[in-house]
Amino acid sequence: MIPERKAARELIAFYLDAGVDAFLGEEPINRMADDLSRPLNAIAAALEPRTRRPASESPLALAQSPLRQKPTPGSSPPPPEAAVMAAREAARNAKTLDELQALLATFEGCALRATATQLVFADGDPQSRVMFVGEAPGYDEDIVGRPFIGRSGKLLDRMMAAIGLDRTSAYIANVVPWRPPGNRTPTPQETAICLPFIRRQIELADPDILVCLGGPAMQTLLGIKDGITRSRGRWFSYQTGRREIRALATFHPAFLLRSPLQKRFAWRDFLALKKALVTLPAIRSQT
Ligand code: URA
Repeated sequence: MIPERKAARELIAFYLDAGVDAFLGEEPINRMADDLSRPLNAIAAALEPRTRRPASESPLALAQSPLRQKPTPGSSPPPPEAAVMAAREAARNAKTLDELQALLATFEGCALRATATQLVFADGDPQSRVMFVGEAPGYDEDIVGRPFIGRSGKLLDRMMAAIGLDRTSAYIANVVPWRPPGNRTPTPQETAICLPFIRRQIELADPDILVCLGGPAMQTLLGIKDGITRSRGRWFSYQTGRREIRALATFHPAFLLRSPLQKRFAWRDFLALKKALVTLPAIRSQT
């Protein structure tokens, strides 16, 4: 094999072993550099080989109206505060879950949209009495476009089945609806930008019970500072904007796959969920 090709193969194998599974651009970008001209130059360079664009689509115009343009891999995302405000506005405008999904599908304020294959909005029945919310989609969910369909999703299915639930009697979503590259943890900014959408999704689905899967979903949605080990199994209240509902946090199925001994605690939480579904007055008619 030609030495350069062999070296390139070895480098790619090294990246894959290190967990890198997405290439975002040809040139590395120092995102720590506080220099406005660099992203503009990077955008300009990215646009260079293509046909000339009208002035309204110049790199400067794109940077000044960042929410209107799908971010190109390698370009800098819009300022987080502007994106959070745009997210709040968009989420408020959605009158139904279908509208919310359509708005999210075209929302350009979160840079994860540029690297994800597609939006992973929800699975299950939004009319259900119980809604499960995880952190963010992984590799399998990104390919298929439905939450919790990989290994941890299979475990979630088994845990739901143990208390008589399945995807026709539960609704499932994530705080962040796009897969972060390489399954990394979403940044606080990405989570803040996506928060108005998941809050609106919960409000529109209007479940009787919200179940946060894992610490990040619990901390984001319930505003709890403690870790999941201390907080799981306890009931909290969650204000949907329409009414107060009950909320429970439990271990994330991905954590349970790594720490099977903890399944006994998750089992207790699911039994508590089952009991609550039986004893709580049903606003929802199903289950
Ligand atoms: N982990 C999550 O938090 N959500 C998914 O959809 C899959 C894995």
